[in-house]
Amino acid sequence: MSGELSPIDKAKFVAAKKATDYVEDGMRVGLGTGSTAAWLVRCLGELVRDEGLRIKGVPTSTRTAQLAKEVGIEVVSLDEARWLDVTIDGADEFDSELNLIKGGGGALLQEKIVATASDQMVVIADVGKEVETLGTFPLPVEVIPFGWKTTQALIEETLVSMDVLGRSSTLRMNNDSPYMTDEGNHILDLHLNRIGDARQLAMVLNQMPGVVENGLFIDICDAVVVGYGDGRVEVRDINAGTIEESLLDFAESDNLFADLVD
Ligand code: A5P
Repeated sequence: MSGELSPIDKAKFVAAKKATDYVEDGMRVGLGTGSTAAWLVRCLGELVRDEGLRIKGVPTSTRTAQLAKEVGIEVVSLDEARWLDVTIDGADEFDSELNLIKGGGGALLQEKIVATASDQMVVIADVGKEVETLGTFPLPVEVIPFGWKTTQALIEETLVSMDVLGRSSTLRMNNDSPYMTDEGNHILDLHLNRIGDARQLAMVLNQMPGVVENGLFIDICDAVVVGYGDGRVEVRDINAGTIEESLLDFAESDNLFADLVD
């Protein structure tokens, strides 16, 4: 069954599967959003159903909440959980310091709140997400709908003095309408090509009145689990300074693939 998955999906799957090692019985777990995080939710659901793992999951989007419930994970709100043991989420880009661009799936605000409220944030990603310098992936910025064009102009003007290569931006659309986040906001995607000083840019963007949050995650991620299409995984822990490699067996997870493909 695993033969039906593309190499990228296999890489996402093995990263997600390996990251379940971070989850122990009784933990409160932040559940990310996106295709890689969806694999994680399915893997955790399997552990809940087959091995009696007891966890409380705090989803970062309505999509993830729905999937988590479907696979049997107990879902609680962040206000109920208050603080989390670990959050596991995907990323659009990560660099060697484990700074991230997130929000390609539109859930950056809840993702940042949940990750920041966790003892540990673990990113799961296929190796294609690794970059030397952030910025090739358009940077998502969540903005209030009121006056969004003014906010966009202000952002573009401010980018003139920032260490970036491009400064155009586009309003994210959902068919013919502006994309709406779970909080009812819009997203501007900034086409920067290269972000020289991600920390500075993140701070400057968040000082603008119409900006709710930006997709730069600086000093939030503790470890990244990198998946490869042939089943290899690398766990890079920025605090411990370690890199551990292993190989995952797809055959063990045929049930999960069958669930997904059917
Ligand atoms: C969701 O808003 C994003 O931050 C995702 O975590 C990110 O876009 C990664 O998504 P994929 O796992 O689908 O690549």
